[in-house]
Amino acid sequence: MSANGHFISFEGIDGSGKSTQARLLAEHLRAKGYEVVLTREPGGSPGAEEIRALVLQGDPDRWSAETELLLFTAARRDHMERLINPALAAGKIVICDRFADSTRMYQGLSRGDLRASVDALHDLMIGREPDLTILIDMDPAEGLARAKGRQGHEERFEDFGAELQRAMRTGFLALADEYASRFRVIDGARTPDAIAKDIQAVTDTYIAG
Ligand code: ADP
Ligand code: TYD
Repeated sequence: MSANGHFISFEGIDGSGKSTQARLLAEHLRAKGYEVVLTREPGGSPGAEEIRALVLQGDPDRWSAETELLLFTAARRDHMERLINPALAAGKIVICDRFADSTRMYQGLSRGDLRASVDALHDLMIGREPDLTILIDMDPAEGLARAKGRQGHEERFEDFGAELQRAMRTGFLALADEYASRFRVIDGARTPDAIAKDIQAVTDTYIAG
């Protein structure tokens, strides 16, 4: 399916710098001559962007945990079918700001223990992991302050507050152990340039194979 492409995801708590670093990595790889598709979840395709509005706006208790899991998975399936799989099949590098590891954390961990359902649904409907996952690790208080500094209305999850962010940090580090072969953990409490240099080194090594 993805004969020549590379599938790279960014993960981490809200405000950890994923979007910033995903953009900088895309610029780096384009400058080296690669064709890069920069995308994000939830969203990334027209249908998935519509689902994004459903899951990120409104009351924190708008959806049950199970319904929310189905919505995120539906969005991901559409994103895979319409954007990610065709790009990988064409040999491009796909950089995705969040992917299934976010579902393992936010739906699998934070709203009761739904991890088994998350994994079962993933196997049934998605069926692949990124080739490389960059986890930007940082102190949740700092991440939350950064995320809150952005004005916006997509705050359903940020409204869960600092305690959730702490559980997420621990959970993401545990996931990095569980899937150690594809995860690389990067210290996010530095300047954007310093972080970007580390990510470039890790990615260049991975692509060189
Ligand atoms: P995420 O996508 O993980 O939520 P963003 O990349 O959107 O994070 O960054 C969140 C906020 O923090 C933005 O306002 C961004 O400009 C700022 N920011 C990103 N990286 C850094 C950094 N290394 N140091 C300080 N501020 C940062
Ligand atoms: P995102 O726009 O990446 O937020 P941020 O830039 O603040 O990190 O993601 C929006 C929210 O969606 C974020 O709080 C995490 C949540 N989310 C899930 O709960 N499950 C998922 O599968 C994904 C992809 C995101």
